[in-house]
Amino acid sequence: MSNNNATSVPEAYPMNGGDGTYSYTKNSSYQRAAANVAKTLIDEAIAEKLDIEDFSSASSNAFRIADLGCSVGPNTFACVQNIMEAVKQKYGSQMPDFHVFFNDHAANDFNTLFASLPPERHYSAAGVPGSFHGRLFPEASLHFAHSSYATHWLSKLPEEVTNKNSPAWNKGKIYYTTSPDQVFNAFAAQFRTDMAIFLEARAKELAAGGMMVLIMQTIPDGIHHSRIPTGIMFDFLGSILMEIAKEGLISEEEVDSFNIPVYTTTPNEMAELVERNGSFSIVKMESTSPWLKVGHIVNNTPQKLARELRAGMEGVFKTHFGSDIVNQVFDRLNDKSGQLINQLESSHRQGTQLFLALKRK
Ligand SMILES: C[S@@+](CC[C@H](N)C(=O)[O-])C[C@H]1O[C@@H](n2cnc3c(N)ncnc32)[C@H](O)[C@@H]1O
Repeated sequence: MSNNNATSVPEAYPMNGGDGTYSYTKNSSYQRAAANVAKTLIDEAIAEKLDIEDFSSASSNAFRIADLGCSVGPNTFACVQNIMEAVKQKYGSQMPDFHVFFNDHAANDFNTLFASLPPERHYSAAGVPGSFHGRLFPEASLHFAHSSYATHWLSKLPEEVTNKNSPAWNKGKIYYTTSPDQVFNAFAAQFRTDMAIFLEARAKELAAGGMMVLIMQTIPDGIHHSRIPTGIMFDFLGSILMEIAKEGLISEEEVDSFNIPVYTTTPNEMAELVERNGSFSIVKMESTSPWLKVGHIVNNTPQKLARELRAGMEGVFKTHFGSDIVNQVFDRLNDKSGQLINQLESSHRQGTQLFLALKRK
């Protein structure tokens, strides 16, 4: 098995570990709600399309599930439980044992993940460190791959964006929301390269008839990036950084050279990438609206939203600016979080999550 990351350490910005105030464990209710929105769709996809006959040739009698970009929990445990229940519902007593692989970057806090594994679980658990932008598992060894809110992370920043002499140099901004087309195009090209590698690796790892569910942020056709929650939140963080730069605590060039390595795809783009890969058929593709359904913005305090953003984004900021500036950024975010909520309340939130169920041909 080849691993194209074997000789280099991939860029990794795991969510905050442990179980402290700013930990992902305590601040991931948005991702949890997003996964809940997808639960019924997963149940349906498994009930309608998973075909146990296709698994009879697998060499072991275990049903193998992988959660890619699992972070520290507890969301991953709920997702895995949902998948297992749907599979059991379909096959009843014929089911073999379950083996669950929790994957994330090696820098992820696997200790917290392992320490909080549900004691009553009915599966064998294993951690699989490494980037999903490359091979992680032996050929045809998986029956179900799942990834929620992880594949929008790019494997690295596009090179043009980090080159001061390139037209894609993102002056005064940390995201592509309102940047020149060259910046957006560089992010889009990086995503397409990454997703092609991701699909190629999963095509090798999934047994024929196996399924993969991807839950990812998306942008509906015709909506500008500055109108969706991700664009608004990242621009807000960018304006805080520029404010800190104006006060002389960091240089503007430090802000110019910093970009958040995240990309929001469209349903059409994903469908095209899957088709180009050729190994999967699309079983179900649906845009959902977790921000609307769960009242995430309305029911949570502004400070809670600020903590959730910090739990997810602190790592990428810390690598570039160091701990002192990170505290500045997120303390200011906390103080201004009411303002951010107001902006989010008038954002476009319909259809900003993509549910994609694929079947290995
Ligand atoms: C927002 S968290 C989502 C965690 C969990 N799936 C959930 O829904 O709560 C995204 C996770 O994806 C992981 N991730 C990002 N890029 C990755 C990659 N190339 N390989 C493996 N994990 C990756 C991050 O380290 C992080 O833990």
